[in-house]
Amino acid sequence: MKIFLDTANIAQIKEANDMGLLDGVTTNPTLVSQEKEDPEILYSTICKMVKGSVSVETTSNNTEEIIRQGHEIRKYGRNATVKVACTREGLKAVKMLEDSGIPCNVTLVFSPTQAFLAAKAGATIISPFIGRLDDISYNGMDLIRTIVSMLKPYDYLKKTQVLVASIRHPVHVVEAAQAGAQISTMPPKVFDMLFKHPLTDIGLERFLKDWESVKARMAQKVISP
Ligand code: E4P
Repeated sequence: MKIFLDTANIAQIKEANDMGLLDGVTTNPTLVSQEKEDPEILYSTICKMVKGSVSVETTSNNTEEIIRQGHEIRKYGRNATVKVACTREGLKAVKMLEDSGIPCNVTLVFSPTQAFLAAKAGATIISPFIGRLDDISYNGMDLIRTIVSMLKPYDYLKKTQVLVASIRHPVHVVEAAQAGAQISTMPPKVFDMLFKHPLTDIGLERFLKDWESVKARMAQKVISP
């Protein structure tokens, strides 16, 4: 499963990218509103920095305007993916953009039928938001399992990747992989949590301490053979 970072923060993207563990980035207008830089600078910097897909969101619900913005977004780089909200107007634009070779990420997907229509429109990525469903007492991961099982038998998953969005914690990441989703996008905070285990920290501290005592013993032998 690919790991994407869900942020527009250049420093956070750079840190994960430099580790070689980052497969892509998703942004949205809310995330961009939290940064100081101009959106254009942000988008082109991220597209240059990251090798994989970078989702840049369109900001209209009018088909022609979405298509126009989609062509503009592609100017940021060959890896720029056009993010489009899952509406009737949006999916019309997705069909046209994908037919002209421009990859789209259909966002704000909350139901299996929306995912199915997005796949039929030829979307490269579909983004079901699981955390926001959990927030309203619906099991978001059930939606991922349903979408994957619905699209798989008809080979839609060969063209369309299911990207699990609105991830809140590491268990979401584990379950997304188990459900067969191809991508998880997560806030930097959740990415950091994936590394952490208290027993690793305790174990490492002990090994380092014990190695110091081995070194001290060896040094002692050199002084008094
Ligand atoms: C995905 O592309 C979205 O940017 C994101 O996952 C939304 O998550 P949120 O519900 O935490 O805002």
